[in-house]
Amino acid sequence: MPLNIPTLHKLEAVKKESPNVKSFTFHSKLIAKESKPGQFLMVWDPGIDEIPISIVQASPGGAVELAIADVGDCSHSLHQKQVGDLIGLRGPYGIGFSLHGERICMVAGGYGAAPLRFAALRAKESGKHVIVLEGAASSAELLYVQEILDSGCDLRVATEDGSGGYKGLVTDLLEELVASGEQFQQILTCGPEMMMERVCEITKRAKIPTQVSVERIIKCGCGACGSCDLGGYRVCKDGPVFTAEELARTEFGRWTRAKSGKRIPVIPNVLMGNEVELVSTPPVHFTPEYEPLLKTEVCGIDFPNPLANAAGFGVSGMLLYRYAVAGAGAVVTKSIGLYEREGYPNPTFIELSPRSYVNAMGLPNPGIKSYGPELEDAKYAHVPLVLSIFGNSVEECSDVAKIARTYPVAMFEFDASCPHTEFTAVENDPKLLSSIIKVIKEIVAPKPLAVKISPNIGAPVGLALGAQKAGADAITAINTVIARPVDKTLDIPLLGNPTGYGGKSGKDLTVGGKEIVFALYKELKIPVIAVGGIFTVQDVIEYARNGANLFQVGSALVTEGFETFSRLKEELTAYLRAHEYKNIRELVGEAHKR
Ligand SMILES: Cc1cc2nc3c(=O)[nH]c(=O)nc-3n(C[C@H](O)[C@H](O)[C@H](O)COP(=O)(O)OP(=O)(O)OC[C@H]3O[C@@H](n4cnc5c(N)ncnc54)[C@H](O)[C@@H]3O)c2cc1C
Ligand SMILES: Cc1cc2nc3c(=O)[nH]c(=O)nc-3n(C[C@H](O)[C@H](O)[C@H](O)COP(=O)(O)O)c2cc1C
Ligand code: FES
Repeated sequence: MPLNIPTLHKLEAVKKESPNVKSFTFHSKLIAKESKPGQFLMVWDPGIDEIPISIVQASPGGAVELAIADVGDCSHSLHQKQVGDLIGLRGPYGIGFSLHGERICMVAGGYGAAPLRFAALRAKESGKHVIVLEGAASSAELLYVQEILDSGCDLRVATEDGSGGYKGLVTDLLEELVASGEQFQQILTCGPEMMMERVCEITKRAKIPTQVSVERIIKCGCGACGSCDLGGYRVCKDGPVFTAEELARTEFGRWTRAKSGKRIPVIPNVLMGNEVELVSTPPVHFTPEYEPLLKTEVCGIDFPNPLANAAGFGVSGMLLYRYAVAGAGAVVTKSIGLYEREGYPNPTFIELSPRSYVNAMGLPNPGIKSYGPELEDAKYAHVPLVLSIFGNSVEECSDVAKIARTYPVAMFEFDASCPHTEFTAVENDPKLLSSIIKVIKEIVAPKPLAVKISPNIGAPVGLALGAQKAGADAITAINTVIARPVDKTLDIPLLGNPTGYGGKSGKDLTVGGKEIVFALYKELKIPVIAVGGIFTVQDVIEYARNGANLFQVGSALVTEGFETFSRLKEELTAYLRAHEYKNIRELVGEAHKR
């Protein structure tokens, strides 16, 4: 798998496919070789944005084709590009269509015909019988009609205005086809969400296995940020292709998320004529195991084990539930502020080298008032829930804390240290930080408050001592370290935020993070929560020896997946047992006792 970083490609061909859609062809043997139907690329228009686009074609010679509808800022800017212009590509990403069975029906709407054209071609190459049903508002908007026919598929079209094929909806065609008794082993669909929802209704009745390509807001594209959440699935990593059964247990067809992560109806309520309830489908009941060797207590809270996710690796409560099921002993939310924030344009997350990342998400969040439903969902995790909050003035933090304290959480973490937003000021201004801590503490007491710091201002121990004096109950260290990656060819920042500054996470933080935790433990009376470059059990052991009580895992979830929690738990248990420790707490601070 190539690194998660845009690499520049020359645009080889541009073609108008319909009034609103152009196709773009690039040459990349690496991308073409790895691409499967249903997967997508992140397409970077330097200085504008980076957007997810499905792959239409990937030829053995290395030609990679994409079809882009002109719908907004980035797609519009891409539509102005000429042959020879440089565009950044990364990927392919996600799980594509699985082409099993001898007879497959594909139902396409709008630019959904793009990934299905790729699937149809691959299915025909392996000798399958393929019927493609394609729908559009008018015949001018039908995509890839000739190409689909040339690949030997049986194509049937529907147009809403009757200018081509059947007059009506493509789902009416599907209904007729299914009613005619034609047999299919699979139905594949891609198009507007309400069309695909209808496809699922029809195929459920007819008991035909169905795969659906879903769209959500994509930022990192590789499973880090959780912007693309769908019932706890990350569309970029666990999808974009899902089975209809998987989708039936999510909000698919009812609600989606804005760039901030806020829940919004798929179709605005005014158009639907009724109000969609923005609630999740309850997951399977889960009870965590309190293991004798790993269970611990910090700030008066009992944890089944000392592992948690780091703040920012997911916005939704359902994703936090998945972390707990995967083995986390606590879960930490995205940092939530007073107001809804979209975050920065993409690229927001890139990989500099294996296990080394830089992000400038820009604190996207729905705002504390709208965050209640996520915390209700996170209760299904049944492990202590830590609500991360931020704000850049005493008044703002006070308002956040007043709402935050009404939520069902065990602990709060104040993010004083995001290195790439206007909120850096908090960590940089010790007086302000003390005032904020005092006011939050007063509001949320008796619940504990951890304060998260970074090494970016150069004196983490002094900062932590100040936080302790102001009333912090724990220190979380460390947040990301400031960095500004640049594209060498274009000599412009790779990150999409205005300054190009971001925060480094992953393996480059492991050594420094452990040193800081050592220094903090030596000086502080309050517990230390470790975060920064935890990948292996050795990292957990060293952080514990240096003085940490709890361990938050971030970047490892991208590199190694959710299994990180169960693997670390297993290896930590084995280590403690082999060295005859009775509990993880005996390890905490051992390095200071030598
Ligand atoms: C996995 C995946 C594959 C996709 N494949 C294609 C494709 O092959 N061709 C194509 O033209 N488009 C595709 N899209 C949609 C495309 O990414 C968005 O239309 C694009 O990001 C819009 O960016 P913009 O800056 O032009 O518009 P913006 O100004 O960002 O937005 C314009 C409108 O589109 C909505 N929007 C933005 N991003 C998304 C998104 N990710 N999902 C749903 N709505 C969104 C916004 O809310 C807004 O209403 C795909 C999306 C996903 C998630
Ligand atoms: C995509 C991403 C989003 C993040 N968002 C937040 C956040 O909202 N609040 C916060 O305190 N830290 C945030 N962080 C920092 C992490 O919580 C963590 O401190 C950092 O990534 C170091 O840990 P790691 O090396 O294990 O990733 C974010 C990091 C990443 C990569
Ligand atoms: S976009 Fe899917 S997790 Fe970030």
